[in-house]
Amino acid sequence: MSEVASISVNGKTVELPVITGTENEKAIDISKLRDLTGAITLDTGYKNTGATQSEVTFLDGEEGILQYRGYPIEQLAEKSTFLEVAYLLIYGELPSAKKMEEFRQLISKHTLIHEDMKKFFDGFPSKSHPMGQLSCLVGALSAFYPESLDPNPSEEEENLTAVKLLAKMPTIVSWIYKKSLGHPIIYPRNELNFVHNFMNMTFGQRTEDVGIDPVVIDAMHKLLILHADHEQNCSTSTVRIVGSSNANLYASISAGISALWGPLHGGANQAVIEMLEKIKDDGGNSAKWIEKAKDRNDPFRLMGFGHRVYKNFDPRAKIIKKACDDILDKLGIDDPVLQIAKELEAAALKDPYFVDRKLYPNVDFYSGIIYRALGFPTDMFTVLFALGRLPGWIAQWKEMRTNKEPIGRPRQIYTGYTKRDYVPLSER
Ligand code: CMC
Repeated sequence: MSEVASISVNGKTVELPVITGTENEKAIDISKLRDLTGAITLDTGYKNTGATQSEVTFLDGEEGILQYRGYPIEQLAEKSTFLEVAYLLIYGELPSAKKMEEFRQLISKHTLIHEDMKKFFDGFPSKSHPMGQLSCLVGALSAFYPESLDPNPSEEEENLTAVKLLAKMPTIVSWIYKKSLGHPIIYPRNELNFVHNFMNMTFGQRTEDVGIDPVVIDAMHKLLILHADHEQNCSTSTVRIVGSSNANLYASISAGISALWGPLHGGANQAVIEMLEKIKDDGGNSAKWIEKAKDRNDPFRLMGFGHRVYKNFDPRAKIIKKACDDILDKLGIDDPVLQIAKELEAAALKDPYFVDRKLYPNVDFYSGIIYRALGFPTDMFTVLFALGRLPGWIAQWKEMRTNKEPIGRPRQIYTGYTKRDYVPLSER
């Protein structure tokens, strides 16, 4: 017999179906609740609310589990490549060798961006934040590829729009960086793999052949894979809700990029390094900053700590912490902020404030130290998060469209004035 939940509102009891996912998570299906009782549910920040049923990513925050299409993140980070993970997320299965090669070739055909788009790069002030530029440039792709505006594309057309976005994003990201330096842009080289090509466009020079260290390329694959999807987080929910109005993929992802920018979400990776630098300049007294983070009257929070869904540990952070040690060691880099990060972590993990609230390092705590070691400036970190998250956003957008999900439109409980009459200006 299928499970039900009973709820009584104003003396009327109704039974609601309980939905069980493939990993046994439970949800009470309240889609008929308002019709049956007149009441809605209220859950600010959606702490208890499932917005969809999804096959893309499974996450168990209590156990610290993260799986893309069933594959554990630990295995993918160790054995896969970013493009293969992108294929897995978007199409649901790991590709055969033939399919992978076809996908790689298809992506490499679309790496160039329209030459007129270069004018946008010239229009941004040189010190403007790369995330503002990225959200604008991704939205602008819809102007260059107007076929993406069709709200009812064929599967083939929809796929091509997704492929174009995935192929052009590294070009856009690396050109934002080159423009910030005042350096000439580097065009894509299609014989290189996805990540190598991105790193070449970012750190290559027109004047000489700059080899990219394979250690750096490997590290970048790992970081991008670890960021590739994270189920219904703030930016992904944004992408799905914008797309639910039948807005095109470029517009939906541009909105997701804006959502990711905030320091409570993807922007935390930049905020962590800025915080660690500040602590270093202040004398490196970790205990003082731990006390500040605990003080309710102090707005300071330990950036890179805490997570809405992870209440044990963030499995991405575990892999990244180890990768951070390995990569800095291989590159022979001694970054003083790494020591401060480790001291903060050790102090927080035995402090009752953090232990009681189940606050652990998240994906952003150590990733910035690696990005810095690879040569990226701080304000590019969140752009790298966006590059990694892109396949997840595409997969989630596609799933929402395939399932023909209705337009996202939450309700509210109104707490403002009740009806009152207009008072003419002369009488106010
Ligand atoms: N430093 C100090 N106290 C904290 C922190 C922190 N980083 N995070 C949460 N708390 C406290 C918070 O003050 C609250 O305490 P109390 O119960 O006494 O009021 C309690 O822990 C619960 O926090 P919350 O803000 O209600 O939790 P949330 O689920 O709404 O927020 C969060 C999650 C990630 C926004 C929050 O932990 C935070 O602001 N962390 C720092 C920013 C950060 O690192 N963000 C990146 C998240 S990982 C990347 C991604 O996937 O987005």
